[in-house]
Amino acid sequence: MTFSPDTVAREVSRRRTFAIISHPDAGKSTMTEALALHARMISEAGAVHGKAGRKSTVSDWMEMEKARGISVSSTALQFNYTASQSPTTPADDPDNPHVINLVDTPGHADFSEDTYRVLTAVDAAVMLIDAAKGLEPQTLKLFQVCRHRGIPVITVVNKWDRPGRTPLELIDEISERIGLIPTPLFVPVGIAGDFRGLLDRRTGEYVRFSRTAGGAKIAPEEILDADTAADREGDEWTSAIEESELLSEMGQDHDQELFLAGETSPMIFTSAMLNFGVRQLLEALVELAPAPAGRADIDDSVREVTEPFSAVVFKVQAGMDSSHRDRLAYMRIVSGEFERGMVVTHAQTGKPFATKYAQAVFGRDRSTVDTAYPGDVVGLVNAMALAPGDTLFDAPRVQFPPIPSFAPEHFSTLRANSAGKYKQFRKAMDQLDSEGVVQVLRNDTRGDASPVLAAVGPMQFEVVTARMKSEFGVDTTIEPLGYSLARRTDEDSRAQLDRQRGVEVFTRTDGAILALFSDKWRLAYVEKELPDLVLEPLVATAD
Ligand code: G4P
Repeated sequence: MTFSPDTVAREVSRRRTFAIISHPDAGKSTMTEALALHARMISEAGAVHGKAGRKSTVSDWMEMEKARGISVSSTALQFNYTASQSPTTPADDPDNPHVINLVDTPGHADFSEDTYRVLTAVDAAVMLIDAAKGLEPQTLKLFQVCRHRGIPVITVVNKWDRPGRTPLELIDEISERIGLIPTPLFVPVGIAGDFRGLLDRRTGEYVRFSRTAGGAKIAPEEILDADTAADREGDEWTSAIEESELLSEMGQDHDQELFLAGETSPMIFTSAMLNFGVRQLLEALVELAPAPAGRADIDDSVREVTEPFSAVVFKVQAGMDSSHRDRLAYMRIVSGEFERGMVVTHAQTGKPFATKYAQAVFGRDRSTVDTAYPGDVVGLVNAMALAPGDTLFDAPRVQFPPIPSFAPEHFSTLRANSAGKYKQFRKAMDQLDSEGVVQVLRNDTRGDASPVLAAVGPMQFEVVTARMKSEFGVDTTIEPLGYSLARRTDEDSRAQLDRQRGVEVFTRTDGAILALFSDKWRLAYVEKELPDLVLEPLVATAD
C-alpha cells in the first residue's frame, strides 16, 4: 500500500493519546464527559450521572458491570479539539484541529492487568485527584506504572468546588509520597469549596468562571488582567498571587524537559462537574503532552512513526454488547497509515490478517474507521487469533516486545459444575487464557479439570465465571486458594520445592515454572533453608 510519510508526520503532530488514572469516584467519568462537551462532541453534560436523562457514556458491557455500576472494559474515545493561543504555541487552524485519543482505564477499585495494558497504549497520563482526598491507593499504583514506563503525567486536582485541602498541602503530599514535583500551570482563586477561577501563572492573567445551570454547558470564561482581578476578588486574588510566587521561589515552574522526563508534573485545578478548568486541561494536553513517537522493537531498533503501518494489540475483549457477539482486539497504531480493508501480517503467527471490520469504539456506539494514524486506537472485530502484546504490520516486518505481565497476588481453582460440560470448559479456558484475562497454572497433581487461575486483582475471577456462563454456557465454581505470592523457579528446584509445606509448583501456559507460597514468611523460611533454589520475583517480563 502506498502512503505519504508527510501526511503521516502531519497527522502525528496533531495527535495526543492519553489515559486518565484515578481512584474510583475522583470524577473520571464526569471529566471524560466534560472533555467531550468542550470538544463539542456532546452539547450538554449530565449523561454520566443521568442528570440529563441520557444514555451513560460508560461502557457497561456486561450484566455484572451494570449490577455494580462499573466499567470493566476499556474503550477509546477520539475527538477533535481546536486549541486556542497558548504562551508557547499558536492557536490551531479550525480546519486542522488537534485529534485527542482518550483511552479509558477500568474504573473499579480492584486492580487488573487490563489497566497496565491500557497504559502501554498511551503517550501521557492525567492523574485525577479528589481535592478532599489527595492521593489514593489506585492512583498510586497507576502512577507507579506510568513512572516505570516513563509516561509523562499531568496532575488534575478535581472537585475544587467542594471543601478540600489547600493547594500547597496537595502539592506537598504529591512531592513527598511519590517524588513527582507538581509545577502548577494555574493556581485556583478561591479556596476549595469557593472556586472562582484560575490564576494563569504563565501569563499572570485571571480566568474567571461562571456557573451554568447544573454544570450542563461549557462554563463561560472571562480573561481579566491582574489589576482587574485584584479589584474583583480582593484577598482571594492576593492569596493566589502569593502561592504562585512561593511556588516560583521553590522552583516549581513548568519545565517541559523535566515534565517529559517524568520528574515534574504540570498541575491544574478543576471542577469537572461545573466544567471549570476543563479547557485548561485540554490546552495543556495539546501544548505539553508528547505527540505519538516511534517504538523500539524486540531488537531495540525503533519503528519510526513515518514508516509503514505497524500496531500493537493492547487489549482483547469479548461480549461487549449482546447485540454484537464477537471478539474485539484493540490495537494502538505505532507507525504509518491504517486503512480499513488492508491486509496486514500478524507477527506472532506470520499469518495475514484482514481488517475489513475495523471500528472506532466509544462506549456502546460503534462506528467504522476508514483511516487511522499513529496514536489512534482501532478495534478489530472477530480477532480470534490476536492476544495482548501482539504486533500487526505491513512490510517491512517488525515485532514489538510483549506487554509486561505482572506478579499475580490472587489464586483460585476453577471447575465446571457439570462434568458433561468439560469440553466447553476447556475451550473457554484456552480462550480466556489467550486473551490474557487471567494467567492459567497447571500441575499433574491437580490435573486439567481444575486449573489454578492467577490474577493481579480478584475481579478478574468474576470476569472469568461470568464469561464462562454467558459465552460458553458453562456454570463454574471458583474457590480461593491459600497462596498469596508467586516466584519464578526452574525444573531443578521443582522437586525440592514440592516437598515444602505451604508451597506448590505449577507450569504457566507460557512455560514459566511458578512456585506459589502461602505468605511471605513461608517464602522467607524456604529461602533461608534452601538458599540454592531458584526463586525469582515475578516482575515485568519486558521493558
Ligand atoms: P469516577 O468515574 O472517577 O468513579 O467518578 P465519577 O465521575 O463517577 O464521579 C464520582 C462522584 O463525584 C459523582 O457523584 C460525581 O457527580 C462527583 N463529581 C465528579 N466531579 C466532580 C466535581 O468536580 N465536583 C463535585 N462536587 N463532584 C464531582 P455521585 O454522588 O457519586 O453521583 P451523582 O449523585 O452526582 O450522580
